[in-house]
Amino acid sequence: MAGAQAASRHGKPIGVAVVGAGYWGPNLVRNFATSPEYLLTWLCDLDKSRAVRVLGPYSTVGVTDDLATVLADERVHAVAVATPAGTHLDIALAAMRAGKHVLVEKPLAATYADGLRLVREAERAGLILMCDHTFCYTPAVQKMREMVHSGELGDLHFFDSVRINLGLVQADTDVLWDLAPHDISVLEAVLPPGVEAQSVAAHAADPIGAGRPCVAFVTLQLTSGAIAHFHVNWLSPTKVRTTMIGGSKRALLWDDLNPQQRVTVFDRGVDLIPAEEVGEKDRETALISYRTGDLTSPALANREALAGVVQEFADSIRTGRPPLTDGRSGLRVLAILEAASESIALDGIPMPLYGSGAGRDLHEQSHLAFQPRRALADR
Ligand SMILES: NC(=O)c1ccc[n+]([C@@H]2O[C@H](COP(=O)([O-])OP(=O)(O)OC[C@H]3O[C@@H](n4cnc5c(N)ncnc54)[C@H](O)[C@@H]3O)[C@@H](O)[C@H]2O)c1
Repeated sequence: MAGAQAASRHGKPIGVAVVGAGYWGPNLVRNFATSPEYLLTWLCDLDKSRAVRVLGPYSTVGVTDDLATVLADERVHAVAVATPAGTHLDIALAAMRAGKHVLVEKPLAATYADGLRLVREAERAGLILMCDHTFCYTPAVQKMREMVHSGELGDLHFFDSVRINLGLVQADTDVLWDLAPHDISVLEAVLPPGVEAQSVAAHAADPIGAGRPCVAFVTLQLTSGAIAHFHVNWLSPTKVRTTMIGGSKRALLWDDLNPQQRVTVFDRGVDLIPAEEVGEKDRETALISYRTGDLTSPALANREALAGVVQEFADSIRTGRPPLTDGRSGLRVLAILEAASESIALDGIPMPLYGSGAGRDLHEQSHLAFQPRRALADR
């Protein structure tokens, strides 16, 4: 551990290994390889031939199917885990026990309990644990976070996201755990300080008999009285990636499939006129007024989100500050996913989420916020 921290804080490139060379791993490989912050040292996959194919014939990066070889290498300061969720606990735990900082693909782990073990190990060892909630590092989401946090949208009224397409029906996960981590982490990133999810209700269906939910609808009640809703679906013939955030002053629409205008801000909405301003005669009809102002589209940087992920990981390793999507925020996402799965099993009964009461600043250090009900009962 001392070696990893010392080398990484002295401005030298951070030696990094990627574990997993399947669909997503190569994207991490490309971003680590092109960042001056890092020296990509190993690519590890149980299927070694896959790792060789990803790197190409002229690469000098080491290839192995043996994690122990990677972890024994003192040049490796950090490990990025891009294997299926069920393997995250063992690989990330082994890496931290070998003193390596860890970036884990979403979701942080397969269960809340596993995620909690990772967070505790990182805190015990004084290592950076980051979860790759990639969308939080898109220029669009960073703009949305800035607008909500600065009060430009006013008080949050609702958050409504749709992530649907003809998706790969996967054997080791369902549509909720596959797609909703993106939307929950975006909600997490944009929620104003002090507002948190207090309960979750979810319904899901498996109309094709795949043995796992392929369509899910999830509703979160927030402590401010606002509401959030996610629709995730592997069976939709059209691809939709939209999030609408409504506020008391403005609303915004993020359409990730519209590169010309990813974010649109609407100076439109509904106001309630205070009863005392309306005469007795008109009160029933005149309490609501509609604003129909301009639509604007903020300029956004043209940057790959994963470049932001690897930069945030490097900055955290070098400074010791928690990343935006640290282990704790990954854990809050798991708490919501787990409670949503419980709600699905109970026909949509709302499941309470127990907040820390310490606010929901993403960099907050002292409590493990948002525990699902079962985890709380287990303690
Ligand atoms: N951030 C994102 O937007 C995003 C997108 C897609 C996938 N993901 C996440 O990335 C992770 C991997 O997903 P994928 O679609 O690439 O999976 P995949 O099945 O395509 O690839 C996984 C790879 O890991 C290897 N592997 C499995 N167990 C291993 C072990 N113990 N040691 C070494 N290698 C091992 C497999 O051989 C395979 O090559 C998942 O957690 C997934 O949720 C994230």
